[in-house]
Amino acid sequence: MLELVYKSKAKDNITQQEIEQILETAQEFNKTNDLTGCLIFHNKHFIQLLEGNEDTIRTLYTKISKDLRHHEIELIYEKIKSQRNFESWGMAFVNLDDDDQFTKKLFEDNVITYAEITPKITKASDIFWHEVKLLLKK
Ligand SMILES: Cc1cc2nc3c(=O)[nH]c(=O)nc-3n(C[C@H](O)[C@H](O)[C@H](O)COP(=O)(O)O)c2cc1C
Repeated sequence: MLELVYKSKAKDNITQQEIEQILETAQEFNKTNDLTGCLIFHNKHFIQLLEGNEDTIRTLYTKISKDLRHHEIELIYEKIKSQRNFESWGMAFVNLDDDDQFTKKLFEDNVITYAEITPKITKASDIFWHEVKLLLKK
């Protein structure tokens, strides 16, 4: 199994509808292909952790890298491992750009807790949550 973390910048004029389409595609494909992880969207930036079959993730990552809805894609971490972190999460999605300040505040306050409930902490999930915390400060 491979786990991979990357970050990217959304294209300038990204719409709510485009975000929803990304999520819809991701959730359907990832479920069918037994991929799990978490996708964060905040302040026009994405951070995603993906875990699952190595070939599936590499093929998907090549597609994601060419997706015109974002750019400046930067691979932060990848490693072969034996166990999942996000087993029960499916492809979790957190959109922190909603006008809902309450949700955002709640997430900011709880980001450490989110990180801690990730069952098995690995370097990838450490790096992932670290990047999320940095992003929240932007
Ligand atoms: C930030 C971001 C994250 C994405 N994450 C996924 C994902 O986890 N799973 C997925 O199937 N597609 C994801 N996509 C969509 C893919 O880039 C691509 O559109 C999708 O694989 C369908 O490609 P196809 O139409 O060439 O088959 C993501 C796109 C973006 C911009």
